[in-house]
Amino acid sequence: MATEITFVAIKPDGVQRGLVGEILSRFERKGFKLVGLKQLTPTKELAEKHYGVHRERPFFDGLVEFITSGPVVAMAWEGDGVIASARKLIGATKPLEADPGTIRGDLAINIGRNVIHGSDGPQTAQFELGLWFQPSELNQWDPSDQIWRVEP
Ligand code: RTP
Ligand code: MG
Repeated sequence: MATEITFVAIKPDGVQRGLVGEILSRFERKGFKLVGLKQLTPTKELAEKHYGVHRERPFFDGLVEFITSGPVVAMAWEGDGVIASARKLIGATKPLEADPGTIRGDLAINIGRNVIHGSDGPQTAQFELGLWFQPSELNQWDPSDQIWRVEP
């Protein structure tokens, strides 16, 4: 399986509720490598581009208003199969339908306050990483314990 990088963001509700450490640790413990991390309050322009595929949906304006309402924690995670795996760790869009053990299943109730975003495919990941991060903000590094890591 190819090594990939995906874009994950803790939405303003996750930051306000003090869930940043909890969420970071789930990706770390899974074994993925953190290659980008920053906190920012997204501009309207950034939010509208990020959720551009939903532009015609009735929830679009409220979604953009919410995402721009406060700090977001933007992350880039690297690893084999990380794009699909991150979506599994995150869980279903509707938190009440998300499996227990997933981030949304464990930590959220409301679809409009579902704590976290993750890229939904390789092209989306590439687009979103380019939108949220400068190339210089993405780090290439080798964990010192990588000798213990085995091919999947
Ligand atoms: P995300 O993009 O945030 O990772 O979420 P997702 O892929 O699981 O779901 P998506 O269909 O892309 O929806 C984007 C976000 O829009 C909000 N939403 N609200 N009120 C509604 O019916 C509704 N539907 C979607 C959610 O916050 C969802 O995460
Ligand atoms: Mg989505």
